Amino acid sequence: MAELIVALDVPSRAEVAATLRRLGDAVDFYKIGLELFSAEGPDVVRLVKDAGKRVFLDLKLHDIPRTVERAVHSIGRLGVELATIHASGGRAMIRAAADAAATFGASAPKILAVTCLTSLDQGDLDDFGVARAMPDQVEALGLLAVANGADGIVCSPKEVAAMNRALIPAAQGRPVVFVTPGVRPAGASVGDQKRVATPAGAVRDGATHLVVGRPILEASDPVAAAMAIRAEMSAAAQ
Ligand code: C5P
Repeated sequence: MAELIVALDVPSRAEVAATLRRLGDAVDFYKIGLELFSAEGPDVVRLVKDAGKRVFLDLKLHDIPRTVERAVHSIGRLGVELATIHASGGRAMIRAAADAAATFGASAPKILAVTCLTSLDQGDLDDFGVARAMPDQVEALGLLAVANGADGIVCSPKEVAAMNRALIPAAQGRPVVFVTPGVRPAGASVGDQKRVATPAGAVRDGATHLVVGRPILEASDPVAAAMAIRAEMSAAAQ
């Protein structure tokens, strides 16, 4: 059954506390990203955990293997369930992250790789000297990540079916996590997202976790919005 993760895209501890209160039992999994973590530090992870919630820490680590290994040790101690790295950090960096996570045993954070940021286009790949077409580059980086111990990837809902086809056989029986942002219930405002899918579409295409921000946080009734998305996800999983 796919899981709903709400993006805590708010700037301060006070707004985190208000969001947790407002959403209550309707949401039990939250994504903390760079803005909030840079403003409030690891204490904000503790705040969300102390409210009994699960945490996806989206810091997109990309550095030399030793630095990433040590960062993943710190992240593991916070007790988060999911954490992100950039696959383009290379095989040794991915392996360092996976090995550091594994030292936490049953409570290890799952390491998710970002392949190509969706803000990049073919022109950016040209700048990097990458000759592959974007979908091939996304797939190659996804395969590199899984081959070197990553537990899954973050990808757009438009890529998730192809990535399921490529990565599940490569994982040789190990479960693969597919996290997709860019999810919009039918009729919701698209905002700045360009390649969106409905919750049902993303689940049917093989997403295991959906990250949703504004369609819930900016709804006039956020609890109803979250419950409607969860209902759509479970109907699609039947
Ligand atoms: O408000 P919205 O539902 O668009 O929020 C989606 C979340 O997922 C945001 O935290 C955003 O930064 C993140 N994200 C994204 N697209 C990506 C990667 C991450 O929207 N390609």
